Amino acid sequence: MEHRTLHRSGFGRSRGSAPHFVRFMLAERKPHRSGPVCVTELMGAPYLARMPAQPAPSPISPRAKDLFGLDRSYTFLNHGSFGSCPLQVLAAQDRSRREIEARPIELLGRRVEELLQPARQAVAAFVQADAAGLGFMVNATEGVNAVLHSIEWQRGDEVLALDMLYNAVRKSVQRLGVSHGITLREVVTPSEGWSGEKLANLLIDAIASQTRLVIVDHVTSPTAIVVDVQRVIQACKARGILVLVDGAHAPGMLDLSINGLDADWYTANLHKWTCAPKGCGMLVTAPQHRNATHPLATSHHFGLAYTKEFDWQGTRDITAWMHAGTAIEFFAQFGWNRVREHNHSLAVWAHNALCEAWSVAPLTDASGSSMGSMCAVRVPKATRMKHASVEDLARVLYERERVEIPVIDWKGEWHVRVSAHIHTAQEDILRLADAVRAIGR
Ligand SMILES: Cc1ncc(COP(=O)(O)O)c(C=O)c1O
Repeated sequence: MEHRTLHRSGFGRSRGSAPHFVRFMLAERKPHRSGPVCVTELMGAPYLARMPAQPAPSPISPRAKDLFGLDRSYTFLNHGSFGSCPLQVLAAQDRSRREIEARPIELLGRRVEELLQPARQAVAAFVQADAAGLGFMVNATEGVNAVLHSIEWQRGDEVLALDMLYNAVRKSVQRLGVSHGITLREVVTPSEGWSGEKLANLLIDAIASQTRLVIVDHVTSPTAIVVDVQRVIQACKARGILVLVDGAHAPGMLDLSINGLDADWYTANLHKWTCAPKGCGMLVTAPQHRNATHPLATSHHFGLAYTKEFDWQGTRDITAWMHAGTAIEFFAQFGWNRVREHNHSLAVWAHNALCEAWSVAPLTDASGSSMGSMCAVRVPKATRMKHASVEDLARVLYERERVEIPVIDWKGEWHVRVSAHIHTAQEDILRLADAVRAIGR
């Protein structure tokens, strides 16, 4: 990997002052630190002297952080778990909640489908899916469960997935295994050297005669890899095997065309990277499965039509669904391509900067070819040695260093998963670099 020194990278001194890069850090870092920060301490850090060749992307907006309600007393690098909804979108949701509370019978009883239709159209256009096959769900977990409970299983059927699958999905299949006599087989993946193509090939090579359903994550949760799901879907179709894509992280992170992928089912969250209000998920179903695919809650519209069934799953708060389109429009002011590109470039930059800062080897291609807007970086040995468990390290990072970041134990090795959205700044990544090194000293 090519690196530039501080001098060559263009972070040069203006006459008589600290390098502007360092000054930026000093200004931004103060609220996070209990002790003073001195320039020599910063300049002595190896990551400052050996920044990656590629500069970090410019912020989308100088006010990007102000657009979210995130608590500024700590550094938030875990957008991936639950997302964060912009204040403007929350305000619109709040107005809809009040309107529904004012006229519940009219709005929920008589006009629910009319209220959800524009949101469904907006989401369908955003992810390039057929609106007639797009049902709102609370989250991807529910989407996976709806599919698992809609398939007519035969005893001995197998569900195949990578061992990187989301644990809630694992448990959902295991639970069904007890009642329906199906098994889950997990393909063993390597502890490092991940790529989207390699993971797809591992899954395809493991398909067997008893495989009935393949579940493939579009973006893996523990390792943050964008899997080549197109390849998996094509292989499944060629063999007559059902395929469910768990795209929990995909909308807003990737430029999606669900129609183009042509999976049997595609479930996803809009509250993660599209930043819709919490509880906004969806299940997109191919035409041939729509009659047989149902939400988990059987209600009045059972068997009438796909979208009718999903629109009414009993009384619930529909405002997160109603405002999926508001979130899509919110980011459209910057341009979605620009937002995705910013987040991806920052994740790639973070990956390379942290590998350098901690002197650890990359777990995936440093160019970012298998990354979306998250990256996994190994925790350096010195930091790991001080803690009994990943939970312990995550707690110290949060409570002492004021950095919110997931620490993951993957096959006995530890890594952090860094998320980059428009509220994430280069300085936040450097704060993490510093915190992990400080813990290891
Ligand atoms: C791959 C994957 N599937 C499913 C989920 C579950 O999402 P939710 O809790 O919103 O249902 C996640 C959450 O991070 C995930 O990463």
